[in-house]
Amino acid sequence: MTLTFPTATGAEYSVAGLPGTLDDVSVREDFDELVAEAAAAPVDGWDFSWLEGRATERRPSWGYARLMGERMARADTALDVQTGGGEVLAAVPRLARRTVAVESWPPNLARAAALLRPHGVRLVAADGDYILPFADATFDLVVSRHPVDTPWGEIARVLRPGGVYLSQQVGPASMLEVSEYFLGPQHGAARTRRDPDRARVAAEAAGLRVVDLRTEILPAEFRDVGAMIYFLRKVVWIVPGFTVERYRSRLADLHALIRARGPFPAHASRFLLEARRAAG
Ligand SMILES: C[S@@+](CC[C@H](N)C(=O)[O-])C[C@H]1O[C@@H](n2cnc3c(N)ncnc32)[C@H](O)[C@@H]1O
Repeated sequence: MTLTFPTATGAEYSVAGLPGTLDDVSVREDFDELVAEAAAAPVDGWDFSWLEGRATERRPSWGYARLMGERMARADTALDVQTGGGEVLAAVPRLARRTVAVESWPPNLARAAALLRPHGVRLVAADGDYILPFADATFDLVVSRHPVDTPWGEIARVLRPGGVYLSQQVGPASMLEVSEYFLGPQHGAARTRRDPDRARVAAEAAGLRVVDLRTEILPAEFRDVGAMIYFLRKVVWIVPGFTVERYRSRLADLHALIRARGPFPAHASRFLLEARRAAG
């Protein structure tokens, strides 16, 4: 068997004549066990501790949770857009006096409600991609980590004059090695979507002034095929429509690759953007 695929860094992770293939009973049993375990694991919430020791992704150096916590402690009214399971917000040492979170995906809405209620956070069921169901100039801080989309006009509208938007976002070509392994070469939008410069333009077009914009490319690796399955079931945007059944043969090849050559390497891309609405 020969498998070769390019990585985003240009390096190749290639295998010729793999020693262990699924014809080997012990390799196949191992594969079946990893697949069954990962296919059955719950994937709601936005906590990745299931992957502990099985997949790694370096965190951005700016420390979003710390930056967000510092701004929360100074804010009177704050909004977290697309809070997911509420895990990031629940870990903030001191929330704003009135903190509101928005979430729409039903499994995460239920988790966020249970996690955030004891912290006094009001949870609103809303999409957060297009419309924020709040009056103009309601919040002095709006935060969002890894939003699917950013409604720039809405963020500017609900911020008070002088208010701040702080967001860590997924950048361009994040985990492209994984997408390309399953989907083949990706061109155009898959490489250019989520460009931080476009985010700056959109923020400024909405009337915000960008005061900080930083980008980092962060190494990641998957140490077994179960970790990859769990990741793709949870982060549904990397390989749209992913199911174990649809990609079983590619997963079997990946299992053999990892056994023969070690962890599957990839890169996550992140940017941090802080913007301010002009003071009245
Ligand atoms: C990428 S998540 C980030 C959540 C949170 N801000 C965090 O960083 O932990 C952004 C949004 O995607 C939603 N989401 C996650 N998995 C989803 C799925 N399988 N289908 C639809 N939406 C999903 C989340 O509920 C959340 O509103």
